[in-house]
Amino acid sequence: MKARKQLLTLLDEIIVKQHKKDSTTDAISILREQVDNGDLTVEELKDSIIEMLFKAYHGMSSLCCSTFIELARHPEVTEKIVTELDKSDLMQGNLPLDKLATMPYLQQVCKELLRFAPPYGGGFRQVLKTFELEGYQIPKGWTVLYSIRDQHEVEENFTGARTFNPDRWATGKQNDSYIPFGGSGIRSCVGEKYMLMFVQLFVAQVSRSCQWELLDINTRSTHFPVQLPTNGLPLNFTASYRKSKV
Ligand code: HEM
Repeated sequence: MKARKQLLTLLDEIIVKQHKKDSTTDAISILREQVDNGDLTVEELKDSIIEMLFKAYHGMSSLCCSTFIELARHPEVTEKIVTELDKSDLMQGNLPLDKLATMPYLQQVCKELLRFAPPYGGGFRQVLKTFELEGYQIPKGWTVLYSIRDQHEVEENFTGARTFNPDRWATGKQNDSYIPFGGSGIRSCVGEKYMLMFVQLFVAQVSRSCQWELLDINTRSTHFPVQLPTNGLPLNFTASYRKSKV
């Protein structure tokens, strides 16, 4: 509670500073406009900023950890990413997003990381209207939990669901059961597009410029509130660009 209070005070200062700047493109200014229009209260604005900060921080940490774990367990996957980067002349220098978007294997790996280890396991919803599901009546007013993890682990949805396998996405076919950022309704993730850029850059950058091994091969993860390794993820880590094979 003390930390939250400090954070709220800091946010007050940032909101005032940002308002003086007359900027219109950053997230705080866009939300601030809604306060000025009377659509949001200042308290709601601050809650929204805190939600974004925490969702972004935990989602990103979780995804970074899963990248290190799964690529260490599957060196052949890292090799294939490196080969693809090499072919596109991206072993050094900037990683332009438009070029990364044309690398099919990198896209497959990013997609599979978010399927196999979804950072957020699910979300809560309030039932607005009584409905029936597989013979059970779910009454109006109940709180229900939808599970992203279960959805991604069900064999009928994904063959060999418990295996990390980027090749499952090679056909480019969509799968409606794939929901790492929630559904597509009004409560879906506002950070989705940003995270999709981030994960491509992160996976490409660590694959070409770092080597690491897991010091605990039995690394396990907690699933709530976010998927994270329980052991602090000890790694033997070296940062050095791989040599281009071309
Ligand atoms: C890998 C990273 C991320 C994942 C996997 C992720 C996933 C999700 C999921 C599953 C939900 C829906 C929760 C529900 O159904 O109640 C959600 C909502 C949300 N996410 Fe993300 N998220 C990520 C990153 C971010 C980032 C970077 C931001 C900040 C800009 C963000 C902001 C939000 C917000 C504000 C909501 C709530 C939307 C609402 O309830 O109206 N997320 N996210």
